[in-house]
Amino acid sequence: MAGVSQSPGGKRVSRLTVEHILGFKRRGERFAMLTAYDYPSAQLLDRAGIPLLLVGDSLGMVVLGHPSTLPVTMDDMLRHAQAVARGARRALVVADLPFLSYQVGAEDALRNAGRLLKEGGVQAVKLEGGGEVADTVRRLVAAGIPVMGHLGLTPQSVNVLGGYRVQGRTAAAAARLLEDARALEAAGAFAVVLETIPTELAEQVTARLAIPTIGIGAGPRCDGQVQVLHDLLGLFPDFTPRHARRYANLGPLIVEAVARYAADVASGSFPGEAESVAMDPAVLVELRGRAGAPESAGLGPPPRA
Ligand code: KIV
Repeated sequence: MAGVSQSPGGKRVSRLTVEHILGFKRRGERFAMLTAYDYPSAQLLDRAGIPLLLVGDSLGMVVLGHPSTLPVTMDDMLRHAQAVARGARRALVVADLPFLSYQVGAEDALRNAGRLLKEGGVQAVKLEGGGEVADTVRRLVAAGIPVMGHLGLTPQSVNVLGGYRVQGRTAAAAARLLEDARALEAAGAFAVVLETIPTELAEQVTARLAIPTIGIGAGPRCDGQVQVLHDLLGLFPDFTPRHARRYANLGPLIVEAVARYAADVASGSFPGEAESVAMDPAVLVELRGRAGAPESAGLGPPPRA
């Protein structure tokens, strides 16, 4: 059954569930997932009807400025998960388990995944890896925690992979990835992200699984697609991955807007009357009459054009 939350206007909104996401695949409906890291973006994406929001550990790079996702902590994830959970009323919110929060042992994984649901307020978690994390996935699902898998280019393993490279290029690597996808499905994962793999391999995985595949740099034949919001909106100046399409270029708009603001402050045209509060004239007279009040109090600097 869908959870029900209250919108600020008092309207009741039904939260999408794992069942809804599985339903997309059953009906052959393609769907979009986007990353969200804070309250306002979660609200906007929810308003746009995005059904799945991912509090990705990519926040380490695009929000916190780290060179990779490895330094991201549980505290980082919890703080951002809480903000997104407060902003999204309809979307199913998934949060990444950060590096070393689930690899050390299943107990640790359960405790950390549980925190993301209990304290973070999200509805599901995502973790990276295939057969080697299947037991952990089983354990989390048995405890009532929906799990999304992540195969292909798994950024938490960038140092083993030797860079952010296309994965599954050889027959052996592709066969391994197929096996890993099956292992995740058998362990109870409700969806699996396929990152930076050849289109044909993603198509094979998608055809063999009953759970949805969600591609990023994996071609058009996955059941869903996911992108990093900052890549889509031109908000991350360091680089744009090849798989991203820029739907807006907000970076230069922001630079231009804040430069105009700074110029208005420097010229004295901001704030103007509309952005200021005038004192009651009688109070001003009284204030001026009080001993110690400077003669000029309430007169302010002369407005400049
Ligand atoms: O952290 C993230 O944003 C992700 C997506 C790229 C799938 O894992």
